[in-house]
Amino acid sequence: MPVPQPIAIGTEKPRILVVDDESFIRDMLADFLGMEGYAVQCAADGVAALRELRAQPFDVIVSDLKMPGIGGLDLLKEARQAYPDTVMIMMTGFGTVETAIAAMKSGAYDYILKPFKVEEVIQVVERGLARRRLEAENIRLREAVSLYKVSEAISASLGMDDVVKTMAASAIDDLNADWADIWLADGEGGFAPRGPWTGGELKDVVPGDVNHGALVAAVEGGDCVLVHGPEVAPYVNKPDRLPTTMLVVPLKVPTRFHGCLCVARYGTGEKFTEGQRKLLILIASRAAAAIENSRLYENLQATFKQTIQSLARTIDKMDTYTSGHSTRVSEYAGKLARWCGLDDGKIEIVRQAALMHDIGKIGCVMKLNKPGKLTAEEYETFKAHPEYGRDILEPIDFIQPVIPGVHLHHERWDGGGYPLGLSAQSIPLIARIISVADTYDAMTSDRAYRKKLSHDVTRKEIVSCSGTQFDPDVATTFLDKIDDWLAEQRELGRDMPQ
Ligand SMILES: [Fe+2]
Repeated sequence: MPVPQPIAIGTEKPRILVVDDESFIRDMLADFLGMEGYAVQCAADGVAALRELRAQPFDVIVSDLKMPGIGGLDLLKEARQAYPDTVMIMMTGFGTVETAIAAMKSGAYDYILKPFKVEEVIQVVERGLARRRLEAENIRLREAVSLYKVSEAISASLGMDDVVKTMAASAIDDLNADWADIWLADGEGGFAPRGPWTGGELKDVVPGDVNHGALVAAVEGGDCVLVHGPEVAPYVNKPDRLPTTMLVVPLKVPTRFHGCLCVARYGTGEKFTEGQRKLLILIASRAAAAIENSRLYENLQATFKQTIQSLARTIDKMDTYTSGHSTRVSEYAGKLARWCGLDDGKIEIVRQAALMHDIGKIGCVMKLNKPGKLTAEEYETFKAHPEYGRDILEPIDFIQPVIPGVHLHHERWDGGGYPLGLSAQSIPLIARIISVADTYDAMTSDRAYRKKLSHDVTRKEIVSCSGTQFDPDVATTFLDKIDDWLAEQRELGRDMPQ
């Protein structure tokens, strides 16, 4: 179904189509409306009117109700379907007033009784155009508000989840859609759904209902899909659950196709309009730019994490005795964070911080794991490693949340630790967690100056240091859970402390 381009109201003459089988009325209206400054076309019946509509868009149709062939009501229905923005005004004799009222119910703007005065027709046309302008203004305003909301929300976050959720919520609210979904490239040549989201009671609509392969193929080149009725079928897998109307736009930046955004209405929902198509394209283009940024940011973070992991491994390899220490502390600390009830985001911060906790040892130019005790001077150098760690990480913006874990993992609950001598709750939880995990791994691993200690001996040591070196709650949580977890890991064939 061809979709007309929206008319630039105010920059050119409004276009009016006069449809009547009586040539006298057609010509008279064409003359008078032309003198009022309108661009007027005429059609002698419904068929000719539809031909004119397909050829060019009109702002207003003034049509007789009773015509041979396609009558005024049929023309109205066709025009409302294909060109919902066009204002329809019906003309009728006294005998068919009830039909005219039915036409109003079907979406006609107004009706004029024959015989009419020309001024009356002009007034109704002007009122219809005024409403059309108002609607166009409303659409522009809604576009501006939606774009503002999307842009604000997107600029407030670099997280992909936020960008996607904001885009879906905006698509559902601003287009009054029943359903929305977003497919994004999964990095392996495929596309994965991020939704769906529903605006109504469509709980049984699942991503599998929509043939996303067909959607992606249709919009990959930058085109949109706006389909209604039976045209929807190729894009939906379940023929018994067809949307009434469906709109799909690409998420594309000049260098990359990220996926697509799809919205649909089910049941008796009205068709999406041309204005709504434009709005969704604008929303999608803002979101695509944000998705691109988010991907770049995630890549940057991933690259940085890899660098940190390499550094952590380098530290561990500075001495064969500390091999794997950072990785193990990261695993223990991550588990302990979960047992302490932290959410996924905080657990990840704990894991990262634990992986980097000894990164400052890079700054200690000395043999840290030599046999025998460190000299007093060597010990002072060693004690600087948490601060070196903080100094190494401080210039990097997105690593800030892990710094307290690195900087303060040698603080003690009783205040006797370093570098700041903090005590109890003033030590960040992340550092209290790493402290337990670090000690557990250090004691259950071989060192140059001693053999590894057994799990039971280490347990007893943690019990005896609970409330002095360690946060008693964190230590208790660790001891409550560690045995079962170690047993599970051994069952999986892993070599764990005995
Ligand atoms: Fe340390």
